[in-house]
Amino acid sequence: MSGAARLDWLARPAPALRGRLRVPGDKSISHRAMMLGSLAEGTSRVTGFLEGEDTLATAAAFRAMGVRIDAVGAGGRVVHGVGLGGLQAPREPIDCGNAGTGMRLLAGVLAAQPFASMLVGDASLSRRPMRRVLEPLARMGARIEASGAGTAPLRIAPAPDGLHGIDYESPVASAQVKSCVLLAGLRARGRTRVAEPHPTRDHTERMLAACGWPVAQEGRWIAVHGGARLAACDIEVPGDFSSAAFFLVAASTVPGSDLVLERVGLNPLRTGLLRALQLMGADIEVQAPGMAGGEPVGDLRVRHAPLRGIEVPLALVPDMIDEFPALFAAAACAIGRTTVRGAAELRVKESDRIAVMAAGLRGLGVPVQELADGATIDPAPVRAGTVDSAGDHRCAMSLAILAAAGTGEVVIGDCANVATSFPGFVELARAAGMDLAARERD
Ligand code: S3P
Repeated sequence: MSGAARLDWLARPAPALRGRLRVPGDKSISHRAMMLGSLAEGTSRVTGFLEGEDTLATAAAFRAMGVRIDAVGAGGRVVHGVGLGGLQAPREPIDCGNAGTGMRLLAGVLAAQPFASMLVGDASLSRRPMRRVLEPLARMGARIEASGAGTAPLRIAPAPDGLHGIDYESPVASAQVKSCVLLAGLRARGRTRVAEPHPTRDHTERMLAACGWPVAQEGRWIAVHGGARLAACDIEVPGDFSSAAFFLVAASTVPGSDLVLERVGLNPLRTGLLRALQLMGADIEVQAPGMAGGEPVGDLRVRHAPLRGIEVPLALVPDMIDEFPALFAAAACAIGRTTVRGAAELRVKESDRIAVMAAGLRGLGVPVQELADGATIDPAPVRAGTVDSAGDHRCAMSLAILAAAGTGEVVIGDCANVATSFPGFVELARAAGMDLAARERD
């Protein structure tokens, strides 16, 4: 589904980034809005839905299981929920495209269904580890088969006796694992609890609570009881902090910049990059704080400021796990070394983001030393060159903002997958003042 045409970008140094922008809706929350809206009883109205390939794939998955989801203008969806027991068997394998969140959370929903199903994904998703969700689901009684390597396709058979609740202590700090187990727990007998090594984004818990499903915090444990009712609710999806991140870095590093990003989601378990950039000396101010759909939001005003390298505090890592490619770009333009540790998860994202960003920075003259769980980055003038995003949306956008703060023309390969999370990035970046163009290749 994604990335059919090979798309490259041409990025040149930007004069300054200025104005007011609205980034597209939050990807994590958009996935969950389709899932919980479909499983709820009644009609949920969603605004600000991300019209990206990842979240469109999740909406299509529920349509294929008999849920009516009406598109009402850009970002508007009316989801006619069928209730927890109302999904129908899909006729064909469900294609999650590039979306790890879609596949891992759907695995939790489908493991609890009385029908068989199959989850497939693109080449990148088919390489990503699924045992992290298969293991707890199997302990709940689920019957799922993966490839020998523990990857998709996932073949899901109905559990003969249904699922039962478990206490699951996750070895990885992963909101996808946590959410998968909690979603399976909605239809399981008894109580399902998850503990994680470090708290991760809690969008699932917040949205469940907004839909009237009790979610308890019992010390380190997050608990749900099976068999409650999920009520429809209206959800305003805030702007995606992970998409805003590219502009936070670009406006920080390009002299003369002064940019406002409107109504961005500011869930504290997502905004580690904000704190890391502030430690580096960035000038970012939160304006008009408020709430949307049970999530904190605000406008972010960012002005150019000289950045200095830091050792990224370990405690920030899970709160900025998707923002490391952007942080690598910021580090390349700072004064002094930046060190990232404790981020081995980056190696199993849409690409091996440590390797892809290290190669990208080096290709533009910035010295990087790869570590098993991070990297050291020594700033240097960013020069012209040709680099590759390896089909990873966040690496593509991070290399583009690196070029914006650079000294010459940069060609970035394989950028089509930016449409998975940030449709319209090139246009929005240009509106802000960046010199970026896309060109198709055979
Ligand atoms: C997500 C969780 C994170 C994140 C991903 C979205 C989610 O993945 O990297 O982009 O929506 O739950 P992990 O759970 O693998 O850390």
